[in-house]
Amino acid sequence: MNNPFNPSFGRIPAVFLHRGQLIDDVVNEINNPNSPYKISIVYGMRGVGKTTFLTEVGKRVEKNPDWIVVDLAMGSNLMAALVDSLYMKAGNELQKIFESIKGLNFSAFGLQLSAEISQPTFSTYQGILTNMFDKLRKKGIKVLITLDEVKSNRELKDFAGYYQLLNRKDYPVALMMTGLPENISELQNEDVMTFLLRGKRIALSALNLAQIEVSYNNVFKQSGFQVTEDILSKMALMTMGYSYAFQLLGYLVWNSAKKNKIIDQNLLDKIKPEYLVELDQNAYTKIFSSLSKQDKKFVLAMAQSSEQRVSIKEIRERLNRPSNFVANYRRRLLDDQIIKSTNYGEVAFTLPFFKEYVLQQHRFEQGL
Ligand SMILES: Nc1ncnc2c1ncn2[C@@H]1O[C@H](COP(=O)(O)OP(=O)(O)O)[C@@H](O)[C@H]1O
Ligand SMILES: [Mg+2]
Repeated sequence: MNNPFNPSFGRIPAVFLHRGQLIDDVVNEINNPNSPYKISIVYGMRGVGKTTFLTEVGKRVEKNPDWIVVDLAMGSNLMAALVDSLYMKAGNELQKIFESIKGLNFSAFGLQLSAEISQPTFSTYQGILTNMFDKLRKKGIKVLITLDEVKSNRELKDFAGYYQLLNRKDYPVALMMTGLPENISELQNEDVMTFLLRGKRIALSALNLAQIEVSYNNVFKQSGFQVTEDILSKMALMTMGYSYAFQLLGYLVWNSAKKNKIIDQNLLDKIKPEYLVELDQNAYTKIFSSLSKQDKKFVLAMAQSSEQRVSIKEIRERLNRPSNFVANYRRRLLDDQIIKSTNYGEVAFTLPFFKEYVLQQHRFEQGL
C-alpha cells in the first residue's frame, strides 16, 4: 500500500481531519444570502491548512447545482481570469447564453475578445462580467469566488473595487479568501481593500490532538503496523496539532517503518532529525523571516526560558522593556498565531519544536 500521508502544500490529503462542524457551518452560511459569510477570510500561518480548507469548502458548495465555484489565483489578471473561469465552469446551456454576449468569443482555449476590443481595459472586463452576472442571476445561479493567498497589490485593489460594486447591487456572489496574517493586516492600509476586511474572519486553529491520535491509530493499525497507545499519543504530541506536521510525521513514520511494520520509540528517535529539518525548511524559515525585529526578540526571550509555558513577567524582565511595549508584541504574536495564551499572563509557542528552531537560529546568528 502507498503512503497515505502527503506533506505537500495546497492539496486535499487522503488522510483529512475535520475541524468539528466548521466546514458544515461555513457551507451553510454561504448558502444563506444574507449571511455575513458572503465575504470571508480564512487566515493563519503557513501550513495550518488554509488552501486545503478553501478547496474543501469549494467542493462542498459546488455539489449544489445552483452554485458555480471559481478558483482564482493571485498573479494573474483577476478580472480576465474570472470571465474565463465562469465560462469554463458553466454548463452547456449557460455557455450558450454567455456566447451571445456581444464582442465575446469563447473557445477551448478560453476567452477571446473580438477585434474591436483588442486592447481590453478594466472597464471592458467590468462590462463583460456584469453582463455575465446578470445572466447568471436570471437563471438563479449563485457564484462563489475563491481567492487563495491574497496580497495587497494593484490587481487585488481593482478586483476589490469591482467586487464591492457587485455586492452593493446585491448580486449573489460570495467571496472566500485566504491569507497569511501579515498580508491580511496590510489590506487595512488601502481604502478599497478595507471593504474586504469587513468580511467574516475564519481563524484556523490547531487540529485536535485526540483526533490526530485516533487517525494515526486507524491508518497504521489497518495497514498492519504495530504501535502502542503510548507511542500514538507521543506522535500526536509531536505534531501539536499543526496540520503540516501531522502529514509530515505520518509520512516519515510510514516510510521508515514500512519494512518492519513496528513503530516504537526507537523509530521516532530515528526520524526526529529529518522531521525537524523538514519543518524548518518548508515552514519555519518562512514563518520566522516574516517576523519583525522586535517580534523576534520577544520570541527569543520566550525560547530562552526553561519553561514551555512562559510568564509574561519573565519575558518582560529578559527584554527589560515596559509592560505596554511587551503587551503590544504579545498581542501581535497572538494575532499571527505564533504564540498562544495558555493561562492568565502566560504564553507558549503554537508550533511543534519552534522553541528549538528559534534557539538554533540564534546560535547561528551569534556564530556569524
Ligand atoms: N484538515 C486537515 N487534515 C489533515 N491534514 C491537513 C488538513 N488541512 C491541511 N492539511 C495538510 O497540511 C498541509 C498544509 O496545508 P495547506 O492547506 O497547504 O496549508 P496553508 O495553505 O495554510 O499553507 C498539507 O500537507 C495538507 O495536506
Ligand atoms: Mg496555502
